[in-house]
Amino acid sequence: MNSVQLYNGVNMPCLGFGVFRLTEAGECERAVSEALKAGYRMIDTAAFYGNEEAVGRAVRESGIPREELFITSKLWVPDISYEGARQAFPRTLRLLGLDYLDLYLIHQPFNDYYGAWRALEEFYKEGLIRAIGVSNFYPDRMIDLIAHHEIVPAVNQLEVNPFYQRTEEQEIMEELGVRIEAWSPLAAGKDNLFTNPVLVSIGEKYGKTPAQVTLRWLVQRGIVPLPKSSNADRIRQNFDIFDFSLSGADMKQISTLDTGKSCFYSHRDPSAVRRLTYMKWE
Ligand code: A2P
Repeated sequence: MNSVQLYNGVNMPCLGFGVFRLTEAGECERAVSEALKAGYRMIDTAAFYGNEEAVGRAVRESGIPREELFITSKLWVPDISYEGARQAFPRTLRLLGLDYLDLYLIHQPFNDYYGAWRALEEFYKEGLIRAIGVSNFYPDRMIDLIAHHEIVPAVNQLEVNPFYQRTEEQEIMEELGVRIEAWSPLAAGKDNLFTNPVLVSIGEKYGKTPAQVTLRWLVQRGIVPLPKSSNADRIRQNFDIFDFSLSGADMKQISTLDTGKSCFYSHRDPSAVRRLTYMKWE
């Protein structure tokens, strides 16, 4: 499948499958199996999601050679420290049933992410992770992290969708050599994304849905979307975006949807920091 190259030369698929909230018994495994059948080769999980074991089972059952897959997981807040990462990463590998990860991310810019980054640098140098990165880091924290460490994060996974486009942040990340991945690229359907008139009318020209237009728009911006779905038809639909291209005029029209505001929360909002720090995913 089409890929993007990270600054360290590693090729990463240009579209992946997200599994946040796929926690019911069997649900995650089924969805990942459908995604792999549909052609996805990148699966994005996290310790916090509580489904690494299910992802591992689906991956094994698929029979797809390991080197054709791109598996990402993330370090959760209480473990974001040097010692925490040293212990949490082997646990993640064990749950997934893998002996290396393609990408491992610090999930949130909280706790001792300096210490955690040093542990990730060690795992990377030991060849246990092909690329290391972060998630939800705004440019100020990213520049600071890079200034004081040896290895530059290859990826920053952020909320990006048509209502929160983050074009200036993308320019900064590109200058730094950091590739953006988009979590909740469909804004989880918020603000009526699936019936948005601009996305509907652009989609009608190509016989595509607003979800497909949105994912294609991200791919054309060089941002790697990670849509999730528990429904086999929608899983397939979200992968079926490689037989059309949006024109410059389409891209410009979509740019008018930007509100400059998150559809979820700001990582600088004290209540969000508190919630994410003490949150448990049951
Ligand atoms: P479902 O699992 O029932 O398909 P995001 O990736 O932005 O967080 O969005 C995920 C949400 O959007 C889920 O609620 C998912 O529901 C829904 N969804 C995913 N793909 C589509 C699609 N192509 N059309 C409509 N809804 C979708």
